[in-house]
Amino acid sequence: MTSLGKFITFEGPEGGGKSTQVRRLADRLKASGHTVLTTREPGGTPTGEVIRGILQHDHAGEALCPESELLLFEASRAQLVRHVILPALKNSMWVLCDRFIDSTAAYQGYGRGFDLKSILEINAFTVGDCMPDLTLLLDVEPQTGMKRLTLRNQEHRTTRDRFEREQVEFHERVRAGYLQLARRWPERIQVIDSMREEAAVEEDIWMAVSKLMSR
Ligand code: TMP
Repeated sequence: MTSLGKFITFEGPEGGGKSTQVRRLADRLKASGHTVLTTREPGGTPTGEVIRGILQHDHAGEALCPESELLLFEASRAQLVRHVILPALKNSMWVLCDRFIDSTAAYQGYGRGFDLKSILEINAFTVGDCMPDLTLLLDVEPQTGMKRLTLRNQEHRTTRDRFEREQVEFHERVRAGYLQLARRWPERIQVIDSMREEAAVEEDIWMAVSKLMSR
């Protein structure tokens, strides 16, 4: 993207601490004088947030078929790109997005088994040239991630959503898929070991972002 702001996406399996790290990076960028917009997928627009409810908890009262699931993620993304991300980048803001195109490749492609080439084409149709400048892949083993999720759900008194209830094999395919994507696009996707303390993860992220700033 050609603008003063940068577009950074956070990706990874469940329980990798993405939302915490989005907050921490936003604070650091703001402290260095940047204007920052944080958002998430699915969601981030009024339409996207309604779609998020359907995707996470079968709000319409019937099981979603995998094809509908895929297209709902893309619909939420199309709204977010045009109504939020592109306008912010045009205004020279830094945009930090919790999940984006690689989630669909990892979860619907590697996780659900849809043809990866088709997913990449649908992603390209949805986002056009609105591609991240940097993608931070917060890598965590499924067992560790799921343990963290259980603790978080207990703390917030929430229940597991549709994806969190998937078998560990599904989450293993998702994680392996993410690592494949990182090998395919090493220029864009940086793998961060998120099995460590939050502060150590934050430092690695800051180093990757500092490199991006100096590019
Ligand atoms: P989260 O934002 O709380 O991580 O929840 C979003 C869930 O949706 C998460 O389990 C990953 C999943 N997801 C997909 O399966 N495909 C996608 O394209 C996106 C954006 C998320």
